[in-house]
Amino acid sequence: MSAILTLPQPDDWHLHLRDAELLNSVVPFSARQFSRALVMPNLQPPVTTCEQALAYRQRILAAVPSGQAFNPLMTLYLTDRTNPLDITHAALSEFILAAKLYPAGATTHSEAGVTAIERIEPVLDAMQEHGLVLCVHGEATHASVDVFDREAAFIEQILTPLVQRFPTLKVVLEHITTREAVEFVENSPAHIAATITPQHLLYNRNTLFQGGLRPHYYCLPVLKRETHRQALLTAATSGNPKFFLGTDSAPHRRQDKESACGCAGCFSAPAALELYAEAFEHAGALDRLAGFASHYGADFYGVARNTATVTLVRENWQVPEAIPCNGDTVIPLAAGDTLSWRLRDSG
Ligand code: DOR
Ligand code: ZN
Repeated sequence: MSAILTLPQPDDWHLHLRDAELLNSVVPFSARQFSRALVMPNLQPPVTTCEQALAYRQRILAAVPSGQAFNPLMTLYLTDRTNPLDITHAALSEFILAAKLYPAGATTHSEAGVTAIERIEPVLDAMQEHGLVLCVHGEATHASVDVFDREAAFIEQILTPLVQRFPTLKVVLEHITTREAVEFVENSPAHIAATITPQHLLYNRNTLFQGGLRPHYYCLPVLKRETHRQALLTAATSGNPKFFLGTDSAPHRRQDKESACGCAGCFSAPAALELYAEAFEHAGALDRLAGFASHYGADFYGVARNTATVTLVRENWQVPEAIPCNGDTVIPLAAGDTLSWRLRDSG
């Protein structure tokens, strides 16, 4: 087996970078692997206007280590009050590629999200007209829906009518977790795609409870049963360009995860590409990693494919147990695990 794997430099099409000290601590982990990232807008307060998105972009750029090139691409956070004019402005910016639909109450910092899809129909009209991508957190939020069924319920109740009502709107169903999501995307036209995280390719819901409650494996949508993981792995390694890399790396301070009401999010950035390589290797599909990680997302978003390369070396290494952050600690996904591919630092 080859000991070296060279790939076109990948992009991360779904990333949380936070702000202030945490931003400064986490940006270098993404910048050393990825050429570009689509940065999620769920700050507090949320990033709802182009001015806020471009100012946030400058704060991210200021946190990139010198000598590294990293291009953050931005998203707007949709609310019930989003103005269609903000969509028109966003579509004119080369740095704002999408707007994010958080159903209110679905996940971390989604309180300001959309309470009923009808409220944003004029905004979706503008997005469809101007070609701005709709990124979707696809979970039904009604308390009566079982937490493990929320994605499937969202697809049936909200997403299916939405794509019928807006037949040319570009949509990315983010961080998919179920066979139902895979089938929905497979059976949709080419302008409907999905991102897949490393945790949903590598783990099933048993991992959350293995030997006790493991908060650092808790994210939303929550890990599902093994049959769903298998469906995701098959989709990711199929060579179908509708499925591409989006880590959903979502750092939280250790005390906020290890708490009586721990928050959702897995901080995968310290080992993201290596974790995907692990999953693809187990599926016998390392030759398909470049398409998934480096080509299909760029093609979908209509940006040039990267020409630089990154190199993974077959070498055991241990994911750090903890990452220090300005007096706090963030625990990475797969902390302490031994991985068999290691990203070679450039330069
Ligand atoms: O687990 C998650 N964490 N899912 C999300 O949708 C949001 C994210 C976060 O911002 O922490
Ligand atoms: Zn996310």
